[in-house]
Amino acid sequence: MASKITVKAPSSTANLGPGFDVFGLALNAFYDEITLTKTKSGITIITDGNVPTNPEKNTAGLVVKNMKKKFKIKEGIEIKIKKGVPAGFGMGSSAASAAAAAVAFDKLFRLKLDGNSLVEFAGSGEKASAGTIHYDNVAASVLGGFVIVKTNPLDVIRVEPPTNLRMCIAVPDIGVPKKKTKVSRGVIPKKIKFTDSILNLSNAAAIVAGFMKKDLELIGNSIKDVIVEPARQHMIPGFTKVKQNALKAGALGVTISGAGPSVIAFSKSSSNLKKISKAMSKGFESTNTKCQIIICKPSKGAINKK
Ligand code: HSE
Repeated sequence: MASKITVKAPSSTANLGPGFDVFGLALNAFYDEITLTKTKSGITIITDGNVPTNPEKNTAGLVVKNMKKKFKIKEGIEIKIKKGVPAGFGMGSSAASAAAAAVAFDKLFRLKLDGNSLVEFAGSGEKASAGTIHYDNVAASVLGGFVIVKTNPLDVIRVEPPTNLRMCIAVPDIGVPKKKTKVSRGVIPKKIKFTDSILNLSNAAAIVAGFMKKDLELIGNSIKDVIVEPARQHMIPGFTKVKQNALKAGALGVTISGAGPSVIAFSKSSSNLKKISKAMSKGFESTNTKCQIIICKPSKGAINKK
């Protein structure tokens, strides 16, 4: 059995508007790399990133600890984390590390776990950064493509995204709170109007149909969220303008990427992605906010790095 393995896992966007905590899409923008090496005992973490090195407080560390316990593995493990997914963008940074750790552990000890089990272990690591478990980002990072997360019991459905789907992501240069996801989950209403839930449900169902039918217009025009986006948008300076501008420039749908603060526009490969990106930058400029633009495609899931 090999004593060392490296797995890389992609960044992701969660929610896609009305699919809060349910939808995820893997993005080829950034990748985290995790190398697991067998040692005599304990769990140690080495990293070039600005992440905790205490296994209890580190997403990858927590995944390894939980899997080690579950499968009664006596050997020690060194976790080397090469951070590629920037934290605080809303692009599943902690999830990418958790996903890569779960897949690497599975391969290192030849556990041959199924997709749902890998997602479940990866999700247990997400708790270290988000405070609560949600599987949308980790499911996308583990499995790749577009994912729908059913819970109780956990069952992730993966759909291959249309090949001509492109995303323009504008990442505002603003300070984000330390526990950003926890903070942005705190502003979501505890009670919602029944009519709003119907609207979000209809749009979420249409997004799924859009992915199944590879219909980009249907995906884009269904990215409408009347529950979470209105509650969170005040945390993103110029959000309304950025969204309006992107839609005017030809984007099919625009929303917050995960817990933010990035704004994500969904488009076709044939549309003018530079025009959409510029329009989004101008939207942020209207509130004197600089932003970074990332143009990306859907990604495959976590894979062994040979
Ligand atoms: N669904 C999550 C949220 C994704 O929006 O809070 C971020 O981790």
